[in-house]
Amino acid sequence: MNLPRAQRLQRIPPYPFREVAMLKSKLLTEGRQVLDFGIGDPDMPTPGFVVDALGEAARDPVTHQYDESGYGIPSYKEAIARFMGRRFGVRIDPDTEIQSCIGSKEALAHIVWAYIDPGDVVLVPDPAYSVYKVQTMWCGGAAFPMPLDPAGGFLPDLEAIPISVRKQAKLLFLNYPNNPTGAVAQKDFFAEAVEFARKWNLIICQDAAYCEVAYDGFEPPSILEIEGAKECCIEFHSFSKTFNMTGWRVGWAVGGREIVDALSVVKSNVDSGTFMAIQRAGIAALEHYDEWVSWVRAQYQERRDALVAGLQSLAWPVQPPKATFYLWAPVPRGYTSIDFAKALLQEAGVLTIAGTAYGDCGEGFVRWSLTIQAEDKLGTIERAVEAIKTNLPGLSW
Ligand SMILES: Cc1ncc(COP(=O)(O)O)c(C=O)c1O
Repeated sequence: MNLPRAQRLQRIPPYPFREVAMLKSKLLTEGRQVLDFGIGDPDMPTPGFVVDALGEAARDPVTHQYDESGYGIPSYKEAIARFMGRRFGVRIDPDTEIQSCIGSKEALAHIVWAYIDPGDVVLVPDPAYSVYKVQTMWCGGAAFPMPLDPAGGFLPDLEAIPISVRKQAKLLFLNYPNNPTGAVAQKDFFAEAVEFARKWNLIICQDAAYCEVAYDGFEPPSILEIEGAKECCIEFHSFSKTFNMTGWRVGWAVGGREIVDALSVVKSNVDSGTFMAIQRAGIAALEHYDEWVSWVRAQYQERRDALVAGLQSLAWPVQPPKATFYLWAPVPRGYTSIDFAKALLQEAGVLTIAGTAYGDCGEGFVRWSLTIQAEDKLGTIERAVEAIKTNLPGLSW
């Protein structure tokens, strides 16, 4: 069959990780060893208390039908509201301010469909997770890039956005803790962003997928902690990274009722909710949050410290991120991001992602992910550092 795909599909670049996966399998079929620091997908299993809760819930036939509530079953939303209260000190009305979602990616995509008409502007960080920009394009909107650079702590400079753009913008995407830079936002930045959104009448979509992967005692804030945030904010949370549940496709959106309702209208016309047994498993996850999260944070913190120390031993100027399982590392002198990522892979067998996979402003960086699939995590880090030292000598920054 020779039927052309819709133009919206033809306009998007290939999903960056697909290319990386293809390159990796090519090297593997050539018999090469690949030390994989590429995709950010937790390598550890989902905790037993979640799997057990799913098993029990799946055996209850009540969970087998459509979730007719549309927003999520009451017990799931109540558990989320309690969590938001305990973790962030934020009061949430479970009936009107929470929407269950099929992984946060789904909701991040659909919030754009809820608000963007052709010609509307969306303020999108660069570098960033690709979903914000692609969905904007699909809705006929224009993504206005907000560069994230090291001098600004990888926070967007809102004052640099031209007044004409502010007037046309309807959505502003933020993502803290940040993929790919590993940067975090403190409450003062969120307060500034909320003030900006209220002044220019736009909605902030804060992607909090990495909110619980944090180190050294740091507790990333929620934008909803800022007074007045519910008027103009929706925040997207996920079980994926916190509880090693990427394949389960479960998360929640939380924010002002009007915004949550708009998202629900889209969802009710696209999907029929999250499997109710998975929502019940989500409740079990949140009930065990405290003991679980300190364990999982410790696992990544050990890897982070080993990788940072190893790269620093090569004179690579990297600093430990406060959150996320990513290390955003500057490329050595004389290389572009893509050239260096290729050199790492081809010469040293080390797979990282070129910064430009996340946007033009990712030039000059590669992203290391600490989600190491190999059995021996710390050994893999050690071998990667050794391989770079041996096969790419004389790098300088
Ligand atoms: C920044 C960011 N947001 C959201 C997601 C989506 O996560 P999920 O749909 O599994 O909740 C990801 C996944 O990698 C991500 O990196």
